[in-house]
Amino acid sequence: MAVLAGAWLACTSSKPDGSATGVPSFLAPGVEPTPTGTAGSGGSTATGSGGEMLPNPMLVPSGGGSGGTTPLLGPPSGRSDTLLREGWRFFAGEVTGAEQPGYDDGQLGWQDVTVPHTWNAQDAQDGGSNYRRGAGWYRRHWSEPASTAGRRVYLQFDAANSVADVYLNGRRLGQHRGGYSAFRFDATAALREGDNLLAVRVDNAAVPDVPPLSADFSFFGGLYRDVHLVVVPALHLDLEDAASPGVYLNTSEVSAASAELHARVRVRNGSAESETARVAVSVADADGVLVANLEGELPLAAGQTGELGLDGEIAEPHLWNGRLDPYLYRVTAQLTSARDPLGDRDVLVQPLGIRFFSVDANSGFSLNGRPLDLHGVNRHQDRINRGWAIGEAEHDEDMALIVEMGASAVRLAHYQQAQYFYDLCDREGLVVWAEIPLVDAITADPAFTENSRQQLIELIRQSYNHPSILFWGIGNEQRTDDAPSNALLGELAALARSEDASRLSTYAHCCSSDTGGLPQHADLSAYNEYFGWYTGNYDQFGAWADALHAARPTARLALSEYGAGASLNQHQDPPQQPATDGTFHPEEYQSVFHEAHWAALETRPYLWGKFIWNMFDFASDTRNEGDAPGRNDKGLVSYDRKTKKDAFFWYKANWFSEPFVHITSRRFEPRTTANIDIKVYSNLPRAILRVNGSLVSELESPTHIFRWPGVPLLQGVNQVEVVARDANGAAIAMDRVSWSR
Ligand code: GCU
Repeated sequence: MAVLAGAWLACTSSKPDGSATGVPSFLAPGVEPTPTGTAGSGGSTATGSGGEMLPNPMLVPSGGGSGGTTPLLGPPSGRSDTLLREGWRFFAGEVTGAEQPGYDDGQLGWQDVTVPHTWNAQDAQDGGSNYRRGAGWYRRHWSEPASTAGRRVYLQFDAANSVADVYLNGRRLGQHRGGYSAFRFDATAALREGDNLLAVRVDNAAVPDVPPLSADFSFFGGLYRDVHLVVVPALHLDLEDAASPGVYLNTSEVSAASAELHARVRVRNGSAESETARVAVSVADADGVLVANLEGELPLAAGQTGELGLDGEIAEPHLWNGRLDPYLYRVTAQLTSARDPLGDRDVLVQPLGIRFFSVDANSGFSLNGRPLDLHGVNRHQDRINRGWAIGEAEHDEDMALIVEMGASAVRLAHYQQAQYFYDLCDREGLVVWAEIPLVDAITADPAFTENSRQQLIELIRQSYNHPSILFWGIGNEQRTDDAPSNALLGELAALARSEDASRLSTYAHCCSSDTGGLPQHADLSAYNEYFGWYTGNYDQFGAWADALHAARPTARLALSEYGAGASLNQHQDPPQQPATDGTFHPEEYQSVFHEAHWAALETRPYLWGKFIWNMFDFASDTRNEGDAPGRNDKGLVSYDRKTKKDAFFWYKANWFSEPFVHITSRRFEPRTTANIDIKVYSNLPRAILRVNGSLVSELESPTHIFRWPGVPLLQGVNQVEVVARDANGAAIAMDRVSWSR
């Protein structure tokens, strides 16, 4: 908080009802006083988001709540974060000398691009398993203002797939191996006043030490997330701890009465002389009211990095309660030098969600002491014609669709996803399973193990402060239940526990014995099962789950994947189980597949999570099935996000409360039979069918499915209308289609 002399220790606590016990004069109007240093203790598991750096930290926008601001006192933050989106030159291929400032990137083959960028937007989504995997070069000039003198300048890459070599003014800053997590380099020493030349060689060729070695999705190459120029004071919150925010928030002993807050603040003294860092961590509620303030000092020698632990208490915490009430506090970490309290300071803002959770082998998942059914989807981060180079608008659109369907949880497969999307999950109250890209094959090569560990550490430290993330996924479908695979999963499970004991690790199993070694290493066990697609038929799922529950009675089980392919252009009634690798994937089969699965899942609370494969169709260039080569069509929504398949509405009818009605098979056009069966999904209990203006009948259904068998169609175009009504008979929702015969 304020760095005014003597003000450090003069704070008092405040209750949510606003009653304060003493108001130091230096706090701005509207800022309630807060307790100083360590105050009281509390509950378990708290977090915040991965590094939100504000353009002007004097005014901090409220997370989650009212949109108020918390005025911050003292000189402006010495931290700036500039996105480098425009002005890039790109070459698809290998080039010699492109890292040199004098290199002429006006030559043939170089083109202007903006970042985020991928060079595989088209060739990795069209099938043929032949998209270009190899090197790409990026170059960008920028002129460095004199104002950075005496400060540290970092280059931050939010992700580059999969190996990136970074050069500044011809000087190699370093390499990052791994395609899904952020990385930073201190560029200060290589910087020069005036024009600077940043060159990045990115390579998505297969390499034996970087997972994933293989998987059922395309590995888009490029700088597919943002690049930042981050300038901080010499004394700053550490930016080099696995590219994390440098501030780790946790709560414990959480109850309605109080929660203990623990902040670990890493500080780097990038100056040439020793310093005493003054750290203040203040917590404001959604209305900007300060509810806690933790302060401390940390002496650091020149060039030294250290960590300060601060503890405090939040009285009567407003809990983060999933979709019901995703309440967020906002934590502001401020750092100044004791030698120069009014000088440069570093400021970082993190959301904080206070919650506690548990998973039981019989009763499943509980949040804040209450059972919560975790039902949701898997989501890949690609989008048609853009690959992984998507922006906030696309993330927002994906989130809106997931929320509309009524999901309470999401598995972000099979890799670390954008911090922005984790932020959205915090704000929307979706429980998150986040994972590393350890998919399918592994090797016993120590370099592979090391990189898997690195990716897990980066995932956890970069995403540590997200309240929505409750589970760390350490792997997906290792194919062989052998010693190297078990050793690696054992090591990663232990690493997850040592990095973050406040969450649970999980693993998605398939393809070897359900009771073998592989699903035993993580805290939780989940299974990818495709009854009615890759194996057997969908009615077998329930019995399989019960048998597994009986075989592993103390294991905490979830269904991490289940799904079926569906084309919007292929239809069949009644639907037959198609050849999975065939080109005919009728939409109707996907619907009946999910109807059967949800009926079995909703009656098995011992499954702590149920995750559909997949929310969206996605690119998998090796595939050649359904109606689009290069695509996995198990999505409930099309690859372009334009069309929700019928099965989307099946889940909406079961999971979403806003009334609606949906006529299925609307794209089954034209019809070839004189009579058709009409099936409707709704979350209302009654529905009336009219065809060509004539009443067919009204049905009541407790199952969200309304069926009218053998409805006659006239030759030509038939107008079909369904009105759904609530229990009192009030007409609430309507849907219309036309079918020609
Ligand atoms: C697997 C795998 C997914 C894949 C899916 C499928 O279980 O984990 O990555 O896409 O099956 O075959 O559709």
